[in-house]
Amino acid sequence: MRRNTQVIKSSGTMPVVNSWNEWDTLQEVVVGSATGACFEPTEPGNRPQVRGLGDVPFPTGPKPSEAVERANEQLDGLAALLTAQGVSVRRPAPHDFAKPLRTPAFDVENQYCAVCPRDVMITLGNEIVEAPMSRRARYFEYEPYRKLVYEYWESDPRVTWTVAPKPTMADSMYRQDFWEWPVEERHARMHESEFCVTQDEVVFDAADMSRFGRDIIVQESMTTNRAGIRWLKRTLEPKGFRVHPVHFPLDYFPSHIDCTFVPLRPGLILTNPDRPIREAERQMFTDDGWKLVDAPQPVLTNDDMPPYCQSSKWLSMNVLSISPEKLICEEQEKPLQDLLYSFGFEVLTVPFRDVFEYGGSLHCATWDIRRDGTREDYFPSVSYRSAV
Ligand code: ARG
Repeated sequence: MRRNTQVIKSSGTMPVVNSWNEWDTLQEVVVGSATGACFEPTEPGNRPQVRGLGDVPFPTGPKPSEAVERANEQLDGLAALLTAQGVSVRRPAPHDFAKPLRTPAFDVENQYCAVCPRDVMITLGNEIVEAPMSRRARYFEYEPYRKLVYEYWESDPRVTWTVAPKPTMADSMYRQDFWEWPVEERHARMHESEFCVTQDEVVFDAADMSRFGRDIIVQESMTTNRAGIRWLKRTLEPKGFRVHPVHFPLDYFPSHIDCTFVPLRPGLILTNPDRPIREAERQMFTDDGWKLVDAPQPVLTNDDMPPYCQSSKWLSMNVLSISPEKLICEEQEKPLQDLLYSFGFEVLTVPFRDVFEYGGSLHCATWDIRRDGTREDYFPSVSYRSAV
């Protein structure tokens, strides 16, 4: 006879994995780690550049230990703050990112890091989805999270787990000319949504999605193509979700939606004044009474961002909600904190700038496993339109 070793650790009747949106009260979260992090390699889907130093080659291999320690201190600080707020915090398992990769289609000299679980992993209700990813160095980035995934999946039969198809990441998956386009050409082509990946294979990073109950928006970007969005639609819509592609035409290097369009609570979205949403897509939100509010200019300019950081100054907007009334914001972003206070939020702060060169800020560096709440319809007009 088979022994049933499953222990159901749900609180009340809530599954151990349960998160339908970006704002309900957070119960359990994974916070990334910089341990073992490497510089992101130059590859067809990525051309990292040292900021402000012209043409010096971008370093390769492991990041210096002092830089890793500084980032880990701030990641641990975030973990401690969350714990003090009553949130259960989990961390990724160690992974050898310095190991080169070789598959039948490509090789790459080293991998990247486990600082941004948000990029790879997403909780959609009671389901965990592992993204295919768009860059070679991130091909195996799900590995540091697999032990946790198994734990959640084994401990509660209501938890499901889906792994999206892995693209080849062969040369043919990328458009090399993308990187050479002058700004005028980018402007002229801004509505085409053709970036550095082709449309032939399923490609997406998890961080191009944002969750609003039964509605999921997904940004077409350098890291998510139309085949990726089709895969998400066909996989998720039969399960009762609705998947809406969104575009921010003035972002010429779009990747990951959480510095561009950030829902804070039902009815309120923090938007990026440099990257307005396509006019026709805006209507979905305004029709149902959502307010779109521009974030203030960040404290740092793009030129002040850390030299190895590949993200923009808009990491300022990358806040993490711990409830519809309370969120965490980077310590030095006073103008944004003031705006959030004016909306009635309680704002907690942590220093986080030493994490920026690992790809993100507070939202990127986390992956929510469990929040209060269930699937709700925040867009009744969409329901009405699809019913008539
Ligand atoms: N591409 C964004 C920007 O530079 C940064 C996105 C970071 N988000 C993330 N999940 N890693 O504004």
